[in-house]
Amino acid sequence: MNKVVSKEKFSENVTKLVVEAPLIARARRAGHFVIVRSGENGERIPLTIADADPQAGTITLVIQAVGVSTRKLCALEPGDSLTDVVGPLGQATHIEKYGTVLCCGGGVGVAPLLPILRAMKAAGNRVVSVLAGRTKDLIILEDEVRASSDDVIIMTDDGSYGQKGLVTVGVEQVIKREHVDYCVTIGPAVMMKFVALLTKKYNVPTEASLNAIMVDGTGMCGACRVTVGGKTRFVCVEGPEFNAHEVDFDELMMRLKA
Ligand code: FES
Repeated sequence: MNKVVSKEKFSENVTKLVVEAPLIARARRAGHFVIVRSGENGERIPLTIADADPQAGTITLVIQAVGVSTRKLCALEPGDSLTDVVGPLGQATHIEKYGTVLCCGGGVGVAPLLPILRAMKAAGNRVVSVLAGRTKDLIILEDEVRASSDDVIIMTDDGSYGQKGLVTVGVEQVIKREHVDYCVTIGPAVMMKFVALLTKKYNVPTEASLNAIMVDGTGMCGACRVTVGGKTRFVCVEGPEFNAHEVDFDELMMRLKA
Protein backbone atom coordinates (compact mmCIF):
# COMPACT_ATOMS: atom_id res chain seq x y z
CA MET A 1 0.00 0.00 0.00
CA ASN A 2 1.27 3.47 -0.88
CA LYS A 3 -0.16 6.35 1.11
CA VAL A 4 -1.29 9.59 -0.54
CA VAL A 5 0.57 12.40 1.23
CA SER A 6 -0.97 15.40 -0.51
CA LYS A 7 -3.33 16.31 -3.28
CA GLU A 8 -3.84 19.30 -5.55
CA LYS A 9 -6.55 19.75 -8.16
CA PHE A 10 -5.17 21.44 -11.27
CA SER A 11 -8.57 21.51 -12.94
CA GLU A 12 -11.86 19.66 -12.81
CA ASN A 13 -10.35 16.54 -14.40
CA VAL A 14 -6.64 16.83 -13.63
CA THR A 15 -5.28 16.01 -10.17
CA LYS A 16 -1.80 15.89 -8.69
CA LEU A 17 -1.10 13.26 -6.03
CA VAL A 18 2.09 13.03 -3.97
CA VAL A 19 2.44 9.40 -2.95
CA GLU A 20 4.77 7.53 -0.59
CA ALA A 21 7.08 5.28 -2.62
CA PRO A 22 10.59 5.58 -1.09
CA LEU A 23 12.41 3.02 -3.26
CA ILE A 24 10.96 4.40 -6.49
CA ALA A 25 11.71 7.98 -5.38
CA ARG A 26 15.38 7.03 -4.98
CA ALA A 27 15.72 4.97 -8.17
CA ARG A 28 13.67 6.90 -10.72
CA ARG A 29 15.18 9.01 -13.48
CA ALA A 30 13.53 11.34 -16.02
CA GLY A 31 11.31 9.40 -18.39
CA HIS A 32 10.50 6.52 -16.03
CA PHE A 33 6.90 5.62 -15.25
CA VAL A 34 4.94 3.55 -12.73
CA ILE A 35 1.84 1.37 -12.96
CA VAL A 36 -0.65 1.94 -10.16
CA ARG A 37 -3.82 0.23 -8.97
CA SER A 38 -6.54 1.45 -6.69
CA GLY A 39 -8.42 -1.56 -5.29
CA GLU A 40 -7.54 -5.28 -5.54
CA ASN A 41 -9.41 -5.63 -8.83
CA GLY A 42 -8.47 -2.17 -10.04
CA GLU A 43 -7.31 -1.54 -13.58
CA ARG A 44 -3.56 -1.08 -13.97
CA ILE A 45 -2.91 2.55 -14.92
CA PRO A 46 0.49 3.67 -16.29
CA LEU A 47 1.54 7.12 -15.06
CA THR A 48 4.78 8.94 -15.68
CA ILE A 49 6.61 10.19 -12.61
CA ALA A 50 6.36 13.98 -12.71
CA ASP A 51 8.65 14.55 -9.75
CA ALA A 52 10.25 12.74 -6.84
CA ASP A 53 11.65 13.65 -3.44
CA PRO A 54 14.15 10.99 -2.38
CA GLN A 55 14.49 12.54 1.12
CA ALA A 56 10.75 12.50 1.78
CA GLY A 57 10.41 9.17 -0.06
CA THR A 58 7.61 10.44 -2.30
CA ILE A 59 6.78 10.58 -6.00
CA THR A 60 4.43 12.99 -7.76
CA LEU A 61 1.80 11.70 -10.18
CA VAL A 62 -0.52 13.76 -12.37
CA ILE A 63 -3.74 12.00 -13.33
CA GLN A 64 -6.36 12.96 -15.87
CA ALA A 65 -9.79 11.54 -15.10
CA VAL A 66 -10.92 9.89 -18.34
CA GLY A 67 -12.66 6.72 -17.11
CA VAL A 68 -13.79 4.84 -14.01
CA SER A 69 -10.31 3.89 -12.79
CA THR A 70 -8.69 7.28 -13.29
CA ARG A 71 -11.70 8.97 -11.64
CA LYS A 72 -11.20 6.65 -8.67
CA LEU A 73 -7.54 7.68 -8.46
CA CYS A 74 -8.45 11.36 -8.65
CA ALA A 75 -10.96 10.87 -5.80
CA LEU A 76 -8.25 9.66 -3.39
CA GLU A 77 -7.55 12.01 -0.49
CA PRO A 78 -4.45 12.49 1.70
CA GLY A 79 -4.29 9.53 4.09
CA ASP A 80 -5.89 7.15 1.56
CA SER A 81 -3.67 4.54 -0.07
CA LEU A 82 -3.05 3.15 -3.53
CA THR A 83 -3.20 -0.65 -3.55
CA ASP A 84 0.15 -0.85 -5.31
CA VAL A 85 2.68 1.19 -7.24
CA VAL A 86 5.06 -0.74 -9.50
CA GLY A 87 8.18 0.88 -10.89
CA PRO A 88 10.26 2.61 -11.96
CA LEU A 89 9.43 1.10 -15.37
CA GLY A 90 10.62 1.82 -18.90
CA GLN A 91 13.81 3.36 -20.17
CA ALA A 92 15.06 6.63 -18.74
CA THR A 93 15.33 9.56 -21.14
CA HIS A 94 18.67 9.91 -22.89
CA ILE A 95 20.01 13.23 -21.59
CA GLU A 96 22.97 15.03 -23.10
CA LYS A 97 24.09 18.52 -24.04
CA TYR A 98 22.48 19.01 -27.45
CA GLY A 99 22.53 22.83 -27.50
CA THR A 100 18.99 24.16 -27.74
CA VAL A 101 16.25 21.73 -26.74
CA LEU A 102 12.63 22.47 -27.54
CA CYS A 103 10.29 20.82 -25.04
CA CYS A 104 6.66 20.84 -26.04
CA GLY A 105 3.90 19.46 -23.88
CA GLY A 106 0.16 19.33 -24.28
CA GLY A 107 -2.36 18.97 -21.45
CA VAL A 108 -1.22 16.46 -18.80
CA GLY A 109 1.78 15.66 -21.02
CA VAL A 110 3.46 18.60 -19.29
CA ALA A 111 3.77 16.45 -16.13
CA PRO A 112 6.10 13.82 -17.66
CA LEU A 113 7.83 16.58 -19.64
CA LEU A 114 8.86 18.44 -16.46
CA PRO A 115 11.56 16.02 -15.21
CA ILE A 116 12.94 15.76 -18.75
CA LEU A 117 13.25 19.51 -19.27
CA ARG A 118 14.81 19.86 -15.81
CA ALA A 119 17.39 17.20 -16.70
CA MET A 120 18.03 18.84 -20.10
CA LYS A 121 18.59 22.18 -18.35
CA ALA A 122 20.89 20.59 -15.76
CA ALA A 123 22.93 19.08 -18.62
CA GLY A 124 23.68 22.60 -19.88
CA ASN A 125 21.12 22.94 -22.67
CA ARG A 126 19.19 26.07 -23.57
CA VAL A 127 15.63 24.92 -22.93
CA VAL A 128 12.69 26.50 -24.75
CA SER A 129 9.32 25.14 -23.67
CA VAL A 130 6.00 25.30 -25.46
CA LEU A 131 2.99 24.44 -23.28
CA ALA A 132 -0.39 23.90 -24.85
CA GLY A 133 -3.92 23.28 -23.65
CA ARG A 134 -7.45 23.79 -24.85
CA THR A 135 -8.02 26.61 -22.33
CA LYS A 136 -6.12 28.49 -19.59
CA ASP A 137 -7.29 26.02 -16.90
CA LEU A 138 -5.61 23.15 -18.73
CA ILE A 139 -2.13 24.70 -18.69
CA ILE A 140 -0.46 22.93 -15.77
CA LEU A 141 2.86 23.24 -13.90
CA GLU A 142 3.70 26.54 -15.60
CA ASP A 143 5.78 27.91 -12.69
CA GLU A 144 7.80 24.71 -12.44
CA VAL A 145 8.42 24.70 -16.20
CA ARG A 146 9.44 28.39 -16.16
CA ALA A 147 11.95 27.70 -13.37
CA SER A 148 13.90 25.33 -15.64
CA SER A 149 13.36 26.97 -19.05
CA ASP A 150 15.13 29.85 -20.78
CA ASP A 151 11.91 30.78 -22.56
CA VAL A 152 8.31 29.60 -22.37
CA ILE A 153 5.58 29.97 -24.98
CA ILE A 154 1.99 29.24 -23.98
CA MET A 155 -0.59 28.25 -26.57
CA THR A 156 -4.32 27.81 -25.94
CA ASP A 157 -6.90 26.68 -28.48
CA ASP A 158 -9.37 29.37 -27.38
CA GLY A 159 -6.83 32.16 -26.77
CA SER A 160 -7.81 32.40 -23.07
CA TYR A 161 -4.10 32.50 -22.12
CA GLY A 162 -0.86 33.05 -24.03
CA GLN A 163 -1.26 32.91 -27.79
CA LYS A 164 -4.31 31.51 -29.55
CA GLY A 165 -3.55 28.44 -31.63
CA LEU A 166 -2.29 24.89 -31.61
CA VAL A 167 1.03 23.77 -30.15
CA THR A 168 2.52 23.54 -33.64
CA VAL A 169 2.18 27.33 -34.09
CA GLY A 170 4.44 27.88 -31.06
CA VAL A 171 6.85 25.16 -32.14
CA GLU A 172 7.23 26.65 -35.62
CA GLN A 173 7.80 30.14 -34.16
CA VAL A 174 10.73 28.85 -32.14
CA ILE A 175 12.23 26.84 -35.02
CA LYS A 176 11.99 29.85 -37.33
CA ARG A 177 13.59 32.29 -34.90
CA GLU A 178 16.48 30.16 -33.61
CA HIS A 179 18.40 26.99 -34.30
CA VAL A 180 16.88 24.04 -32.45
CA ASP A 181 19.08 20.96 -31.98
CA TYR A 182 16.60 18.57 -30.41
CA CYS A 183 12.90 18.37 -29.58
CA VAL A 184 10.96 16.38 -26.99
CA THR A 185 7.20 16.17 -27.28
CA ILE A 186 4.68 14.70 -24.85
CA GLY A 187 0.93 14.99 -25.06
CA PRO A 188 -2.06 13.53 -26.87
CA ALA A 189 -1.05 11.25 -29.76
CA VAL A 190 -2.59 13.57 -32.34
CA MET A 191 -0.57 16.50 -31.01
CA MET A 192 2.68 14.52 -31.10
CA LYS A 193 1.89 13.39 -34.64
CA PHE A 194 1.66 16.98 -35.89
CA VAL A 195 4.68 18.15 -33.90
CA ALA A 196 6.64 15.25 -35.45
CA LEU A 197 5.50 16.15 -38.97
CA LEU A 198 6.61 19.73 -38.40
CA THR A 199 10.01 18.96 -36.88
CA LYS A 200 10.64 16.43 -39.65
CA LYS A 201 10.09 19.21 -42.18
CA TYR A 202 12.79 21.26 -40.40
CA ASN A 203 15.09 18.27 -39.75
CA VAL A 204 14.98 18.61 -35.98
CA PRO A 205 15.54 15.22 -34.28
CA THR A 206 12.51 14.57 -32.07
CA GLU A 207 11.60 12.15 -29.30
CA ALA A 208 7.97 11.43 -28.40
CA SER A 209 6.86 9.77 -25.17
CA LEU A 210 4.06 7.40 -26.15
CA ASN A 211 0.93 6.95 -24.07
CA ALA A 212 0.08 3.41 -25.20
CA ILE A 213 -2.41 1.18 -23.41
CA MET A 214 -0.59 -0.99 -20.86
CA VAL A 215 -1.54 -4.08 -18.92
CA ASP A 216 1.43 -5.86 -17.33
CA GLY A 217 4.12 -3.25 -18.03
CA THR A 218 6.77 -5.94 -18.29
CA GLY A 219 6.81 -6.82 -21.99
CA MET A 220 4.65 -9.95 -21.64
CA CYS A 221 1.13 -9.05 -22.81
CA GLY A 222 1.74 -7.04 -25.98
CA ALA A 223 -0.96 -4.48 -25.15
CA CYS A 224 1.45 -1.57 -25.54
CA ARG A 225 2.86 -2.52 -28.93
CA VAL A 226 3.48 0.25 -31.42
CA THR A 227 5.13 0.40 -34.81
CA VAL A 228 8.32 2.43 -34.99
CA GLY A 229 10.36 2.47 -38.19
CA GLY A 230 8.25 -0.43 -39.51
CA LYS A 231 9.10 -2.64 -36.52
CA THR A 232 6.91 -3.68 -33.58
CA ARG A 233 8.17 -2.21 -30.33
CA PHE A 234 6.84 -2.51 -26.77
CA VAL A 235 6.39 0.86 -25.11
CA CYS A 236 6.58 -0.52 -21.55
CA VAL A 237 10.05 -2.01 -21.80
CA GLU A 238 11.63 -0.32 -24.83
CA GLY A 239 9.97 3.09 -24.37
CA PRO A 240 8.11 5.15 -23.53
CA GLU A 241 10.26 7.42 -25.75
CA PHE A 242 10.89 6.76 -29.42
CA ASN A 243 12.10 8.65 -32.48
CA ALA A 244 8.94 10.62 -33.25
CA HIS A 245 9.71 10.72 -36.98
CA GLU A 246 9.43 6.93 -37.16
CA VAL A 247 6.34 6.36 -34.99
CA ASP A 248 3.13 5.22 -36.69
CA PHE A 249 0.88 7.66 -34.81
CA ASP A 250 -2.23 6.72 -36.81
CA GLU A 251 -1.93 3.12 -35.61
CA LEU A 252 -1.29 4.32 -32.02
CA MET A 253 -4.45 6.49 -32.15
CA MET A 254 -6.48 3.60 -33.51
CA ARG A 255 -5.28 1.29 -30.73
CA LEU A 256 -5.98 3.94 -28.07
CA LYS A 257 -9.55 4.26 -29.35
CA ALA A 258 -10.02 0.48 -29.35
FE1 FES B 1 2.18 -5.59 -21.69
FE2 FES B 1 3.83 -3.69 -22.52
S1 FES B 1 2.12 -3.50 -21.23
S2 FES B 1 3.81 -5.77 -23.08
